[in-house]
Parts: sequence; C-alpha cells; structure tokens
Amino acid sequence: MSRLILGIETSCDDTSVAVVRGDTEHTDVLSLVSQNSEKLLSRWGGVVPEIAAREHVKLLSPLIEVALKDAGVSIESIQEIAVTSAPGLIGALLTGLNAGKTLAWLHEWPITPVPHLWAHLEAIHLTEKVSYPYLGLLVSGGHTLTVKMTSPSDVEVLGQTLDDAAGEAFDKGGKLMGLGYPAGRLIDEHAQKGDEKKYAFPISYLRDRPGKMSFSGLKTSVRVFLENNPNAPIPDVCASYQAAIVKTLVEKTDEVRKLHNLSSLPVVIGGGVACNSKLRSEFTKRFKNVHFVAPKYCTDNAAMIAHWALRSPSSRVEFPACLSLDAKSRLVEKPKAHA
Ligand code: KG4
Ligand code: ZN
Repeated sequence: MSRLILGIETSCDDTSVAVVRGDTEHTDVLSLVSQNSEKLLSRWGGVVPEIAAREHVKLLSPLIEVALKDAGVSIESIQEIAVTSAPGLIGALLTGLNAGKTLAWLHEWPITPVPHLWAHLEAIHLTEKVSYPYLGLLVSGGHTLTVKMTSPSDVEVLGQTLDDAAGEAFDKGGKLMGLGYPAGRLIDEHAQKGDEKKYAFPISYLRDRPGKMSFSGLKTSVRVFLENNPNAPIPDVCASYQAAIVKTLVEKTDEVRKLHNLSSLPVVIGGGVACNSKLRSEFTKRFKNVHFVAPKYCTDNAAMIAHWALRSPSSRVEFPACLSLDAKSRLVEKPKAHA
C-alpha cells in the first residue's frame, strides 16, 4: 500500500526535510530540501552543538513549508512522519523529534523513529536494487562501521573505528592543512591535482584486532609532518593523506569480509565520505559487486530518513504512543580502545 511520508533529519548540522511516496519496495522522492549551517560553523572550525541546534529551530518550519510546496502536496494529505531519533547531537536530534511530535499531535499521525546509520546504507535502494544480506560500510563524519545488513533493522556490527571516524580524519586533517570546514570534499578536489606517492603516511592495520580501525595516529602524523614541512605542496599532502584513509577502509572492509566468510555478498557504501572519488575508484578495483549510494543521498538528508520508514513499516509508532518517543545520542556502543 502506498504511503505519503514527511521526513525530518536534524542529527548534526544539516537541517533537511523531504516528502516521499511509496511502499516497502519502491520510493519516489517528491521533494528534498536541506540547509547546512557549515558556513556559520566554519567560524568555529567545526560543529558547535548548541549553535547547530538553534539553527535547526530557525530552519525547520520554513523548510517543511518549502518541501510540501515542492512536492505539490498539502499538509493534510501527509499520512505519517519519519524523524531521525539516533544517533547524533542530542540537542540537534531533539529539535527534529519535537517538531515531528508537534505535527503528529496536530494531525494525529504515527511517527517512525529512524536509526540514522542504517538509513545511510539503505539509501542505496533509492537508486538501485541490492539484495539482502549485504556487507555495508558506513563512512561519515561521526561514524565508521562495517555491518552485515539482513533487513533495514536487522544489523550486525562487524567492525568499527576505535577513535576518529573517517570523515573526522578528513575534517581534522584538512583543518591542520589550513583548508575550510568540512574538509572532505576540499581534500578530494586538491588531491586530484596531487601525487599520492609523494609522502607516506602511516596506516594502522591493527592486525591483532580484526575489523577495528584507527585514524588518530594518521591525524597526528600529518600534524607532525606539516610542522616539519610547512611548504609541502597541499595537493600532494592531500593526495597522500587521502590515499592512507582510503587504503585503511579498503583493507579493513576486505578483512571483515574474509573473516566472516561474506565474500559472496554485495558491498554497499554510504555516508558522506562515500562521495570521495578515490574511495570509489579503490573499492571498485578491489570488490567486484560494490554499490555506492548516489552522492546526493550520501551526506545527511531527510529523503533517506523517510525512505527507511517506508521500508520498515513495523517500526512505526502509532498516535498517541508516538508522543512519548525519545532521542538517543548513541545507536552503537563504541569499542574500548584497549579491550
Ligand atoms: O554523512 P554525513 O553528511 O554526516 C554524518 O552523518 O556525519 O558526512 C559528513 C562527512 C564530513 O566529514 C565530510 O568531510 C565528509 O562527509 N565528506 C567527504 C566528501 N564529501 C563529504 N569526505 C571525503 N571526500 C568527499 N568528497
Ligand atoms: Zn550521517
């Protein structure tokens, strides 16, 4: 049965609203409007949780209006709402969830609380069909995880970073290089003019901890390198640094695939860092059956949130029980660095 859903995403610094129509097998994105507060946040060199939350409060109402207008539907025709409930910055999550609850209360709508991480990977089905189970690599600003996805909500975490996420490695490395925030896209662009073999940055293979990844040593090594080589050409530094991050991701995904005998499964890659051109070319070389979420659905967006709700009708919480839903800053426990 076709459903018309309003989606809201506010887990970090993107305020995003979408209207989608469809069922468990097919989603039409009728509208998607997003506003990023990165320009404002770049003054502080990164996300300030309180400022990000206040921006969501300002932006949500106008964006909902624009999303409905772009979709050509009235608010009365919406049947349910989907809101990111975990993980994320708690203040930022609460702005979206409370906006959703207010609308649910006014219109007596059910709400689907959406796990942001799985929505990133499931966004693959917005543009192509991939069968379950698949091996997922989620690479974003806040998370780096390998998982076995058996359904939209049946997820087994196979590996994850012990410290920084891959996107954080891009952003913090870029800050040290004097690039803006967020730096992932800028490093990608500079790297295209650079020589990745010029400098050898260290890779943490953590061979005794299969699946576990670490990017903090790499960040320290670029800091020390830049102190000692202040005039090193930025394109070469970017290309070499990016190559080390991507190599870590390729090796660690392959390690998990072999360790758990998942070589026959398709590989799906999503999250903001999945936009990276080097990542796309290296994974395509190493894995035969690899699928990348379309770039417009890689970074945080409400289409993937509403899409996840369409695919997971059993997660919907009916009115008025949905008014008691809560947000959570964590979805997956972080492993202990020295366990
Ligand atoms: O998924 P996302 O929008 O937010 C989180 O859920 O964290 O990912 C944002 C991250 C940032 O760290 C940004 O630098 C990175 O994605 N990113 C990229 C590229 N485009 C965005 N990293 C590397 N190369 C890119 N082209
Ligand atoms: Zn995200």
